[in-house]
Amino acid sequence: MKKLRLEDVAAKAGVSKTTVSRVINRRGSLSQKTIDKVEAAMSELNYHPNVIAQQLHTQQTKLIGILVPSVANPFFGELTVYLEHALFLAGYKVLIADALNNPEKEQRYLRQLMGHQVDGLIIATHNSDIEEYQHANLPIVAIDRYLRPDIPVVSSDNYAGGQLAVEALYQRGCRHIVHTYSTNPSNWHDNKRERAYQDTMASYGLTPMTCTSSFNDSPQEKLAIFSKLLEEHPEIDGIFASNDLDAARLLSVARRLGRRVPDDLQIIGYDGAQATQELVPDLATIVQPIEKMATYAVETLEKRIKGTFTPSTTVLPVTLKAGCTLKELND
Ligand code: RIB
Repeated sequence: MKKLRLEDVAAKAGVSKTTVSRVINRRGSLSQKTIDKVEAAMSELNYHPNVIAQQLHTQQTKLIGILVPSVANPFFGELTVYLEHALFLAGYKVLIADALNNPEKEQRYLRQLMGHQVDGLIIATHNSDIEEYQHANLPIVAIDRYLRPDIPVVSSDNYAGGQLAVEALYQRGCRHIVHTYSTNPSNWHDNKRERAYQDTMASYGLTPMTCTSSFNDSPQEKLAIFSKLLEEHPEIDGIFASNDLDAARLLSVARRLGRRVPDDLQIIGYDGAQATQELVPDLATIVQPIEKMATYAVETLEKRIKGTFTPSTTVLPVTLKAGCTLKELND
């Protein structure tokens, strides 16, 4: 079968080869009539422009790499969906790297993405100390995590979310509130949830109590940690979990141990992804604006690619979603 060439499209559309090339690359001033004519000819002939030739010409691949810990986590799954959609609307193709909470995998992915000459990266992974980020010379936007002073961060208002969670528990009578969270490097943005917990507990004159795990702990390890916590501390009457998966695990452990939720123990999570809200509708949580975070991340990345100014940090407001794991306020 004869391979279609630019000349064939030009002949069909009745324009020159240069005009066809300008339509494909959206270069120079073109009338809508010319664009329509060329596009109709390409579609009739079933002609697909050579992307590699275009890339060589524009020095852009129109590829963006997204690195997440795991799309199996409802927060990152939803974030990825919104990022991919916003990038699609902006004319980009996406390579998704699921780093599986594994620093070596993340490092290899990072090298591969840079080898594919991606135009930019959006990083939402939880592995720290990956050296490549210190030297990467391309536009990058981070979600929640701090990589380098010149890499902008988009996050939800983690501090306000932490305050809101502790206030909600306090107002509903909790006085022995524990905070469960995963340890991150100290300058990461989601650590502000823990700082807000400490400050708000101090403002109420309450003694803080934290329970840490690693972001990379398996579900079984987390369940063991949470069981031990609730077995050893029957006085706990409120839990602020720093993410919804842990909050859901704590809820199931509490029920298994016969703790009455919300009468004796109240629980609030953090994230509010659609899937979690549907699967654990009882769970009260602090809702992150996941779609907005994705849109801002893409807008910020586009600005970085164009070399225009971007704020170093974008913080988006959170909301409280009440649920049956919290008492009614007027109880
Ligand atoms: O559930 C995943 C958590 O890790 C979210 O709270 C998100 O903000 C990230 O830091």
